Amino acid sequence: MRHIVYPGSFDPITNGHVDVIKRLRNNFDQVTVLVANTPQKKSLFTIDERKRMIEDVFDYDDGITVESWDGLLVDFLEKKKCYLVGKGLRSVRDFEYEMDMAYTNQSLNKNIDTFFVLTQSNLGFISSTLVKEVGSFGGDISKFVPDAVVRAVQKKFNK
Ligand code: PNS
Repeated sequence: MRHIVYPGSFDPITNGHVDVIKRLRNNFDQVTVLVANTPQKKSLFTIDERKRMIEDVFDYDDGITVESWDGLLVDFLEKKKCYLVGKGLRSVRDFEYEMDMAYTNQSLNKNIDTFFVLTQSNLGFISSTLVKEVGSFGGDISKFVPDAVVRAVQKKFNK
């Protein structure tokens, strides 16, 4: 079975992430979306809230599962005996950041490879950070995130 782990902070999941997950799923039997705890980043949603939103979006597909993790990605991969990391690229800016992470993971465990997919071009500008900024001022984020996430962001900001 071909299995890949797609890690991220997903605070919250955007339509860009959804596109990447679907593209990974087109290439793999099993995609584990891993919501990683990133204490150095202040998050809007709890890890459980982030996980639940992703589960809601993909509840129709048994080939996509969502887990959370507080620790090194390489340790999660070892636990799963899955050494392939999926990542989405929106631009060369992402590539520089992602390449550093891919090399770091490979240095920590030489068996790990990173599989990159390009995000659909019209979704390339979307980021969780911009979603939160627009949402915090009550702006329309319905083109950027799944419906359930629109409501969750509005609720967080009491909009
Ligand atoms: O969505 P993001 O914030 O770009 O995702 C970054 C993430 C969560 C993939 C990265 O920070 C990560 O893997 N965190 C887990 C801890 C870890 O292993 N850090 C070193 C990886 S380079």
